[in-house]
Amino acid sequence: MANKPQGVTWASSVTGSFHSLVALLIAVLVVSSLYLSRDRPWLGSPTPTMPTRECDLFSGRWVYDDASHPLYEEKRCPYKSSEITCDAHGRKDTKYQKWRWQPHGCDLPRFNATAFLEKLRNKRLVYVGDSLNRGQWHSLVCMVEPAIPAGFKSMSRPRNASLRFFTAHEYNATIEFYWAPLLVESNCDDPQNHSGHHRIARVRSIENHAKHWRDADFLIFNTYLWWRLPEMELLWGSFESPAAMHKVVKMPRAYEMALNTWSDWLEAHVNRSKTKLFFATMSPSHENAKEWGGIPGQSCYGETEPITREGYRGTGSVLAMMRVVERVIKKLETRGVTVHVLNITQLSEYRKDAHPAINRKYWHPLTKEQLANPVSYADCFHWCLPGLPDVWNELLYTYIFHILDT
Ligand SMILES: *[C@@H]1O[C@H](CO)[C@@H](O)[C@H](O)[C@H]1NC(C)=O
Ligand SMILES: *[C@@H]1O[C@H](CO)[C@@H](O)[C@H](O)[C@H]1NC(C)=O
Ligand SMILES: *[C@@H]1O[C@H](CO)[C@@H](O)[C@H](O)[C@H]1NC(C)=O
Ligand SMILES: *[C@@H]1O[C@H](CO)[C@@H](O)[C@H](O)[C@H]1NC(C)=O
Ligand SMILES: *[C@@H]1O[C@H](CO)[C@@H](O)[C@H](O)[C@H]1NC(C)=O
Ligand SMILES: *[C@@H]1O[C@H](CO)[C@@H](O)[C@H](O)[C@H]1NC(C)=O
Repeated sequence: MANKPQGVTWASSVTGSFHSLVALLIAVLVVSSLYLSRDRPWLGSPTPTMPTRECDLFSGRWVYDDASHPLYEEKRCPYKSSEITCDAHGRKDTKYQKWRWQPHGCDLPRFNATAFLEKLRNKRLVYVGDSLNRGQWHSLVCMVEPAIPAGFKSMSRPRNASLRFFTAHEYNATIEFYWAPLLVESNCDDPQNHSGHHRIARVRSIENHAKHWRDADFLIFNTYLWWRLPEMELLWGSFESPAAMHKVVKMPRAYEMALNTWSDWLEAHVNRSKTKLFFATMSPSHENAKEWGGIPGQSCYGETEPITREGYRGTGSVLAMMRVVERVIKKLETRGVTVHVLNITQLSEYRKDAHPAINRKYWHPLTKEQLANPVSYADCFHWCLPGLPDVWNELLYTYIFHILDT
């Protein structure tokens, strides 16, 4: 105790320099972590676990991470969707853009647009399906286009064509979308004028669609929402023919018949050593807040946080239809055709915050009654961009880079 003053002096000078050392170290860490989070090829942990076939990419949790997401700025993307850009349509909170998906068993690589474009050189990547798949297409275009200088990229702008495409000219690569909401032919195939009429599916016919994408290198299919009905009218023969046969078939049987037509076509026509096939499972909706413990009568309108209860599932996804997808894809595998499942259902179930609700473009003027009650016209089916579909594309990217070639 006698030498306390001396000790204090020594200690304070040491702690003094120790403090400045710590401060310096913290500064270095902060700066380098900012730097690293921009440039390191992995999201998540500093010692990433590479994704492999064994890792279930679709089982995990959402982590708020505004250093890694969003992957692009809505207003900078010249090819964005005019419908689901929620910022542009007045959404005030942006938290929904800043979540990354963390699988339990491994980490996702950071999306690298240049590397992806290299992979697509001299290739066609085509999304085929409904408006949810179209959202994912818009998302991928906005994810890659910042890596291409002006003048070296373009977007086809046909008014009413089923096929739309983005071209990266230097790479001779296209990222396309083909409108076929039921995959098989139907009376909803007009890309402009399809809602509002009684749905009829030509359940055995797909060739008029498929001829547009049979030689693609990557095909990403989806179909679900348009089948979410108790039953559907099916047609054998053409719409014009008086001899055509009509029959109303219950779900999920009608859905299975259509997916069998799709899988038979793939088996007969796809070049297995060239074309990589993907199927995105059902995209869930959030129409009834009661399901996640919210206020009865409310919907996704006003929601700003994901659901945290692991395994949450709402009534927006129909398990019987998931079973159909499983069966059809498994059967196809036994016939030598592999379709990779982008199993986005569970991870999207959590994202009640990620829908446009009322912050989207409406094609018809809203009535006074609707405006007085936002829940009545809130869109709890589609997803804002930037947002959830970007993560679906990160999963596709992970497949293309880390799973297909291993
Ligand atoms: C992205 O990919 C390109 C091409 O493979 C590579 O040169 C570049 O270093 C990558 N960038 C990052 C941040 O990993
Ligand atoms: C461009 O890509 C297409 C396939 O999408 C291919 O058929 C064509 O040969 C390529 N052109 C050049 C100049 O490599
Ligand atoms: C697009 O519209 C034109 C003129 O209205 C029509 O002739 C053509 O068949 C339509 N194309 C498609 C793919 O619907
Ligand atoms: C849209 O389709 C319906 C039903 O096929 C048809 O009656 C209507 O005239 C079409 N509208 C336009 C603008 O083409
Ligand atoms: C299938 O694709 C491979 C790789 O692109 C090609 O070499 C082969 O000629 C194709 N086969 C047929 C039948 O087109
Ligand atoms: C998708 O994942 C769920 C679990 O979240 C699983 O039950 C289902 O079988 C998977 N679907 C397919 C088509 O593999």
